[in-house]
Amino acid sequence: MKVLAIIERSTRTFLPHTLSYVSINKAGESALNGTEKPFFLLSPGEREKLPEKSVGFVLPKDALKFSYFLSSGEDVLFRILEGNPLPRLSVEQGGFISVSHRMQLLRPISVGILTVSDKGSRGEREDLSGPALARSVKPLGMFVEEVAIVPDEIGIISDTLTKWSDTGRLNLILTTGGTGLSKRDVTPEALLSVAEKHVPGIGETMRSVSMKITSKAMLSRGCAVIRGETLIIALPGSEKAAEECFAAIAPALRHGIEILCGWDSECGSRPHHHH
Ligand code: MTE
Repeated sequence: MKVLAIIERSTRTFLPHTLSYVSINKAGESALNGTEKPFFLLSPGEREKLPEKSVGFVLPKDALKFSYFLSSGEDVLFRILEGNPLPRLSVEQGGFISVSHRMQLLRPISVGILTVSDKGSRGEREDLSGPALARSVKPLGMFVEEVAIVPDEIGIISDTLTKWSDTGRLNLILTTGGTGLSKRDVTPEALLSVAEKHVPGIGETMRSVSMKITSKAMLSRGCAVIRGETLIIALPGSEKAAEECFAAIAPALRHGIEILCGWDSECGSRPHHHH
């Protein structure tokens, strides 16, 4: 679907825009060309419903799916939220957007991020990897529903994974840390203990891509398993390694989860816009 119009309403006047820059400020407010204004989703012919001092993005009627993401395939990512008098658009990721820009609806993927670290769980080390992963999942139309920091104890890790996948119904769990060779590193064993299926290609890809960055990549035992309808992936612990490994697997993650959850049965027929 395409952006049909971008309209800014001042008091009584409607100002159409062709190219606009959307962004988000620290308070989480949407801004058009640097000025904070609420964003609304409009269907064709609904312009008069637009409140004063707000911005309307006109998209085809079938764009209205609450809690879904709207992605331009590049920078711009909106989330569709309920609102009054019209559905709201919250900017998840900013960038330039123009009329006739192609947008894609993405079903929201709920994510849990589990940092596995003895020191982190005691508050002796700031967790940088968990927040880095939370930033990395955002552009893929994923939202973080659970975060936790646990020590390198196999029972605690596997209990958390079980709880999050069975009752939390998360679509994706990312763990960071505990994949190396030290005595305390047991995250892969925790994943294996809750696994119903293995997804070896994810670990293989993390290592093969990372080997181009550092030969120490072979020391991460990062892996991926399936439990129910949850994909669980163990990434290494450093912020840099977690980010690099996530970037390596990101291009296929959404498709894998859509297949796992039965949202999409077709492999390869539908075009996926990854740039
Ligand atoms: N992978 C990438 N992409 N970049 C890295 O810097 N560090 C490696 C490896 N994988 C690294 C990486 C190192 S030094 C170790 S010890 C292992 O991940 C295991 O990390 P963990 O014990 O923190 O899980």
